[in-house]
Amino acid sequence: MSVPSPPTDLAAAAASVLGTADARAKAEASRAAAARWRGGDIATIGAPAAPERPARPPRPELKAPREMPKRRAAGTKETRVALLHAVAHIELNAIDLAWDIVARFASPELPREFFDDWVRVGDDEARHFLLLAGRLAALGAAYGDLPAHDGLWQAAHETRHDPLARLAIVPLVLEARGLDVTPAMIARFERLGDDESAAVLRVIYADEIGHVAAGRRWFEWLCARRGAAPVETWRALVRTHFKGALKPPFNDDARAKAGFSGQYYAALPRTSTD
Ligand SMILES: [Fe+2]
Ligand SMILES: [Fe+2]
Repeated sequence: MSVPSPPTDLAAAAASVLGTADARAKAEASRAAAARWRGGDIATIGAPAAPERPARPPRPELKAPREMPKRRAAGTKETRVALLHAVAHIELNAIDLAWDIVARFASPELPREFFDDWVRVGDDEARHFLLLAGRLAALGAAYGDLPAHDGLWQAAHETRHDPLARLAIVPLVLEARGLDVTPAMIARFERLGDDESAAVLRVIYADEIGHVAAGRRWFEWLCARRGAAPVETWRALVRTHFKGALKPPFNDDARAKAGFSGQYYAALPRTSTD
């Protein structure tokens, strides 16, 4: 079998990560593409090349959020596997979300540092997925063993027309939400006596602060270019593109470390009528 020659521009490399179906192969392709960008093997940005939807493995079975089986208080191993599997699914989506920004919004008008940041995020998400896959393997399980929910690509689809809308929702709602919920998950693994999994989640938590920071930085950069007020613009985009309310409690400390202040999200009107 002949090996296809690797893409020479960044958008094509991003499209090739998005087009990889197998989960581990996608994570490895993400890490390899990031290394080639950092090393200068890929030198140009290229033209937009995002597929309609990323390729995904045949398993896990994807279900609507309301069809997801309720987690029962099973043995501690089953609980840990279910939690790790759910986070692995989020990380696999996050790989595609990062590379979709690169592939979809490829443009010489955006600075190189914009692409540096999202390539680094794609690399981090792949590392996170592989760390979680390692923990699942240590517990005799694998990604794909359990059903997973299909809601995560919705945010990307909703905001495919505009990088400002994408940044408002993906890093500044979804990844910021990750900062809110991860400390409790770390504590839960500690209580279950699984320090290795807790350590993996601590790595993820620290990296995700950087992802929210990158989102905030480029969101404000694009607002400045368009002469838009960041806080008001973010609130309007969240109302339009995010279904449901932002759920407190917020992890103000981690959000502040990302430069994402409560001015944005505190006392956000819950409905369009208030
Ligand atoms: Fe991640
Ligand atoms: Fe992330």
